[in-house]
Amino acid sequence: MASISVEHLTKRYPGGTVALDDVNVEIADGEFVVVVGPSGCGKSTLLRILAGLDVATSGRIAIAGAGGRGDELPSATVFQEASLFPWMRVGENVSFAFDSLTVSPAEVKRRVSDVLDLVGLSEFERAWPHELSGGMKQRAAVARAFVTDPPVLFMDEPFGALDEQTRVGLADELMRLWERSPKTIVFVTHGIEEAVTLADRVVVLSARPGRVKEIIPIAFPRPRDAVTLRGDPAFGALVVRIWELLR
Ligand SMILES: Nc1ncnc2c1ncn2[C@@H]1O[C@H](COP(=O)(O)OP(=O)(O)OP(=O)(O)O)[C@@H](O)[C@H]1O
Ligand SMILES: [Mg+2]
Repeated sequence: MASISVEHLTKRYPGGTVALDDVNVEIADGEFVVVVGPSGCGKSTLLRILAGLDVATSGRIAIAGAGGRGDELPSATVFQEASLFPWMRVGENVSFAFDSLTVSPAEVKRRVSDVLDLVGLSEFERAWPHELSGGMKQRAAVARAFVTDPPVLFMDEPFGALDEQTRVGLADELMRLWERSPKTIVFVTHGIEEAVTLADRVVVLSARPGRVKEIIPIAFPRPRDAVTLRGDPAFGALVVRIWELLR
């Protein structure tokens, strides 16, 4: 597992847009952190910088304890679009995650079949992405991120394009996967209820330029059930509080 430290992170894009302004957050080993904030406040920018896909203008990030071993990816990222390769079968899309790693073919096979089983796609290992529903594609993308068991997972609105029922189901699945195989997760969403369901802490960003407005601890015990939680008055109170911060 790994801890993440974000210090005075600022991102100014060429052209002058300041997406992030002096963002500070410390994320503990194995913590599930959810980031919410108005559209355009820099959430994806933050995730891309953390994932090493973009660079900060100033400030620093440090990820301690991730990577360095040949059989382990330091992190994996799930994007809003499922981003499966259309020319690969579901199983190949998932096993592709091992491409740069030194893991034996037999072990890859075992892990792929294990993770597909966990996300309920065993029967679809040989299917093509276009043969899957939107929710199934997202489950395949989550499987690909989990299959190498990276210590850190970055997820940018992974369930954003899905209907509410599928979303709640996938949130439950994600929590089960995470409990089975703990890792540090940074998860971006527009869904306030989704945030309160999943998170150990919710980071609320302000409108652009994104600054940390408040960090809200979510103390519900685990394992959590996404549907049962919604009936808890404390759940509703947290949702309202976050909505008010976003207003
Ligand atoms: N490659 C880029 N070049 C220039 N400006 C960019 C680039 N990417 C993002 N921006 C700008 O930075 C700001 C933050 O964008 P970002 O995608 O991080 O927001 P977001 O919080 O993820 O929004 P949403 O919730 O809509 O996904 C926006 O004003 C956007 O126009
Ligand atoms: Mg975004």
